[in-house]
Amino acid sequence: MTSYGVHSVAHSRGGKGANGYTATAIGLHWLIAFGIFAAFGLGLYMTGIPGLTPTKLKLFSWHKWLGVTIFAVAVLRVLWRATHAAPPVAAGTPAWQARAAAAAHHLLYLLILVVPLTGYFYSLSAGVPVVYLGLWKMPVLIEANTTLKPILQAVHAWLNYLMAGIVLLHAAAAIKHQVIDRDGTLARMIPFLR
Ligand code: HEM
Ligand code: HEM
Repeated sequence: MTSYGVHSVAHSRGGKGANGYTATAIGLHWLIAFGIFAAFGLGLYMTGIPGLTPTKLKLFSWHKWLGVTIFAVAVLRVLWRATHAAPPVAAGTPAWQARAAAAAHHLLYLLILVVPLTGYFYSLSAGVPVVYLGLWKMPVLIEANTTLKPILQAVHAWLNYLMAGIVLLHAAAAIKHQVIDRDGTLARMIPFLR
């Protein structure tokens, strides 16, 4: 059922010989996670700046470049994951928890793609093409549209709040497993905890 890459970190728990996440899986996980924390914080901060100052415009650009970069890495991550199985959950995990974790992981994989896409289409609907790093004009896939604009703006914001909620539950579950159940779940993503 599960295939282990040659880079797998040998890590056995409960005598089941369950291997851990590979360095690639861990690297992609934290690259995306920290990218999202930064884009999320920047998104909240920049939209709170009153008026239309040069700083605000600059932060909007940085937010878009960061978001486009996260999208590109997320595509790579999903392709990589589709071709590399994840290690089985820690031995002794109740079935409902394994299902909840799998559901959260699927939703997170979806959201790291859809959240930047909604931001991108919101920007286009507002009539502002994205110029990546100020150098490359990215495809204008839809025209400016005053009906779509407020909808995409709200969808981008609410999908972000949904993602934040799932990430909080996801992180809380990982910490609970590590600290209370002591089954080494968090250490699977933070190897130096082992
Ligand atoms: C994973 C990547 C992204 C995250 C985590 C993120 C997060 C956020 C957040 C939290 C806000 C504030 C929402 C609010 O409370 O009103 C926001 C606003 C915004 N985002 Fe993103 N975003 C991402 C990607 C993108 C991309 C790729 C673009 C465009 C290319 C973009 C364009 C915008 C714009 C223009 C706003 C301002 C909306 C407004 O004026 O109300 N975002 N983003
Ligand atoms: C934006 C932030 C985050 C996103 C999008 C995210 C997404 C994911 C996804 C999709 C997986 C499943 C990997 C796979 O099996 O293919 C995963 C696993 C994991 N994540 Fe996160 N994560 C985020 C933040 C965090 C944080 C803050 C923590 C810890 C406090 C954390 C701890 C873990 C752990 C321990 C696993 C492995 C779970 C297991 O062994 O079953 N993640 N994460």
